[in-house]
Amino acid sequence: MNPALSTFMAHSRARCEARLRAVSRLTAQDPRATASLGGLEAAVSYALQAGGKRIRPCLVYAAAQAVDSNGPAEVALDNAACAIELVHTYSLIHDDLPAMDDDALRRGRPTLHKAFDEATAILVGDGLQALAFELLSEAQGVPAEDQIAMVKVLAQASGLGGMVGGQYVDIAATGSTLTLQELQGLHALKTGVLIRAALSLGAVAAGASASERAALEMFGQHLGLAFQVVDDILDVEGSAATLGKTGGKDALAGKTTYVSLLGLEGARTAADALLADGLRAVEGFDQRADPLRALAEFIVQRQT
Ligand code: IPE
Ligand code: IPE
Ligand code: MG
Ligand code: MG
Ligand code: MG
Repeated sequence: MNPALSTFMAHSRARCEARLRAVSRLTAQDPRATASLGGLEAAVSYALQAGGKRIRPCLVYAAAQAVDSNGPAEVALDNAACAIELVHTYSLIHDDLPAMDDDALRRGRPTLHKAFDEATAILVGDGLQALAFELLSEAQGVPAEDQIAMVKVLAQASGLGGMVGGQYVDIAATGSTLTLQELQGLHALKTGVLIRAALSLGAVAAGASASERAALEMFGQHLGLAFQVVDDILDVEGSAATLGKTGGKDALAGKTTYVSLLGLEGARTAADALLADGLRAVEGFDQRADPLRALAEFIVQRQT
C-alpha cells in the first residue's frame, strides 16, 4: 500500500474508532433501568471493536477532503463516518445469521451469534442501525438542511430499496443462476449503494456543490460495484487466515457471483474497468482527491 494512503487510513480509522468506542457505552433511556444493559453492552462492544477495514469511514473522510471548501465540521464528519460503519456492521451481523449466509467467522473471530446467541445478534443489528441515525441527528456544524439530507442519504442507501433490498434479492436468488445484468443490479444494491452513500455523506458534510456531489457519487457508484466484484474474487482466492471470514462460501451456497459467470480473469477485468470508470468520474478534482484515488485502487487490489 502506498505510504500516504496507509497514513490516511490509519488516521481515519483512529478517528472513527474513537467515536465507536464512545458509543459502545449504552445509556438506558429511563433512569430506572441503569443496571440492566450490561450483557447487551458486551455484545455491542464485541461487534464494534473487532477491527474490519473501515473502508466506508475512510471514504467519508476522503470525499470531504476532496471538496474541503471551508474545512468540514469535525464532529459532523466523525459522526457520519461512524454512522455508515454502524450500518455496515449491522448488515454483516445479520448477513452472517443462520437464516442468511450462516457464517461462523467474521473479522477473524466467531460471528456475533456464535459468540453470544442469535437473538442477541438480531437485536444488536437493530440497535446499531438506530444508533447510526442518532449520530447523524447530532452532526453539529453543518446546516440543519444538510443534516436532514444526510439522514435521507443513509436511510435510502440502507433501506428497502438499497442494502436491505439487495440482501433480499441475494437470498431469494440463492440456488438459481442470474444473468450478468441481474447480478450487477443485485451487487449494486446490496453493497454498492452503501459505498456510494459514504461519498455522499462526506460530500454533503463538507458543503460540496451539486456538481461536486454528483461526481463523487458517480465515483461511489462504480467503486461500490467494484467492491463486491472483488469480494466475490476473494471468496474464491482467499483463505480464512487472510480474509478473517470463511472462504469458498459462495460456490458452496449456490450463489451466482462475478467469478461464477465470468471466471477469475473476467471478474478481474470487470473490476479494473469499474476502477477506471470511477477514476474518470473524479478527474476534475485536484490533488486533494488523491486519497480518494488511492482508496479506489486499494479497493480493487486488496487481498482482504
Ligand atoms: C464485507 O465488507 C461485506 C461486503 C459488503 C462485501 P468489508 O470487506 O468492508 O468488511 P470489513 O468491514 O472489512 O470486515
Ligand atoms: C454482504 O455480501 C453484503 C452485505 C452485508 C450487505 P456477502 O455475503 O458477499 O459478504 P461476506 O462475503 O459475507 O462478507
Ligand atoms: Mg450475503
Ligand atoms: Mg455473507
Ligand atoms: Mg462475499
